[in-house]
Amino acid sequence: MKILAFESSCDETAAAVVEDGRTILSSVIASSADMHAIYGGVVPEIASRKHVEAISGLADEALRQAGVEKSEIDAVAVTYAPGLIGALLVGVSFAKSVAYGLGVPLIPVHHVRGHIAANYIAHADLEPPFLCLCVSGGTTALVDVKDYTHFEVLGGTRDDASGECFDKIARVLGLGYPGGGPMDKMAQGGNDKAYTFPRAHVADHPLDMSFSGLKTAVLNTVHNAQQKGEELNLHDLAASFAAAVSDTLVPRTMQANEMLGYNKIAVAGGVAANSRIRADLQRDCDRVGAKLWLPPLSLCGDNAAMIGCQGYYESLAGHVAGWDLNAKASLDISKDG
Ligand code: KG4
Repeated sequence: MKILAFESSCDETAAAVVEDGRTILSSVIASSADMHAIYGGVVPEIASRKHVEAISGLADEALRQAGVEKSEIDAVAVTYAPGLIGALLVGVSFAKSVAYGLGVPLIPVHHVRGHIAANYIAHADLEPPFLCLCVSGGTTALVDVKDYTHFEVLGGTRDDASGECFDKIARVLGLGYPGGGPMDKMAQGGNDKAYTFPRAHVADHPLDMSFSGLKTAVLNTVHNAQQKGEELNLHDLAASFAAAVSDTLVPRTMQANEMLGYNKIAVAGGVAANSRIRADLQRDCDRVGAKLWLPPLSLCGDNAAMIGCQGYYESLAGHVAGWDLNAKASLDISKDG
C-alpha cells in the first residue's frame, strides 16, 4: 500500500511516499525556521503562508523522488492535530483535495502518534506494546503504546514542554531558533554540576512533570549575571540545564517502564535528538535490562514519512476521514478524532 503523506503542524512543510508503513520511498521537507529565527520563535501566520507556498511543489517532488505515479497512490495521510491551527489547515485542505482528486481514502493522523511511528521506520523489530517518551516542542508525555492505534498517557508536563524550554533559554542566550540543537552543542564538555537548577515533582502524580520552574531558574541566572555584569560559562550553563531536563525525564521513564513491565522503551520527537537524554536513557536501560529504541536524528524532527507510517496503521484500523475533516489545535493522543 503506497501512502502519500503530508505534515504541516508547525514550521516544517513535509511530504513523503511510504510503502506498507515501514518503507520510505521519498521524504522531502521545507522548513521556514530561518524566518522565525528573526523573531526568536514561530510566528503562526508566517508558518501558514510558507506552507501554502511549499506544499504543492513538495507533493510533486515526493512523487518524483519515489518514482511513483499519482495513479499508484492508494491513500493520502495528513497530520490533522495537534499543532498551529492555521498551519494544520493548510495540510488538511491540501490533502483533502489530493485524496478527492485521486479518488483514494483520506487518513487522519495525530502528530504525536506520527512521532512515535518514526521508530517503526527506523527499527524493523519494534512492535507494540512498548512505552514511549514523547518529547518535542509542544509535547512532553509518557505514553503507553498498547497497540499501533491504541494509546494511554501515563504522565506528562503540567506546563511547558521540554523542547519549549530549550527554545526559550536558547533565545535569551542568543543561540537562535530552534534552540535545542545549539543548546545541545553548547553543553558538550560543560560541567553539569556548575549551576544548581531545580528538578520539580508534582505531588501525588509521580509520572507528571513541570518545566516552568526550571526555565525560570535558568532565565533568572542569565538575567542576574547580565545585570551584575558577570560572565556566564555557557557550556556549564547548558550542561547543567540539560542535566536537569534529563533528571526530570529519565527516572520517570524508568518508573513507568517498571510499572508497565514491557521492558521496551522508545523515544520520539525533536528533543529525542538530545545527546544527554539519549545517553542517560541508554545507561538506565542497560542497568535494568530494558531494550531502548532511539529514532535516528533524521527522523526525530517533524517529517511526513512518520505520518505515512502511522497513516498505514490507522488505515488498517479502519480510521478514514470524511471530506469534513477539520484540523484541531489540541487533541489527546488516545482520541481517534
Ligand atoms: O518534534 P519537533 O521537530 O517539533 C514538534 O513537533 O514540536 O521538535 C522540535 C523541538 C524544538 O523545541 C527543538 O529545540 C527541539 O525539538 N530539539 C532539541 C534538539 N534538537 C531539536 N532539543 C534538545 N536537544 C536537541 N538536540
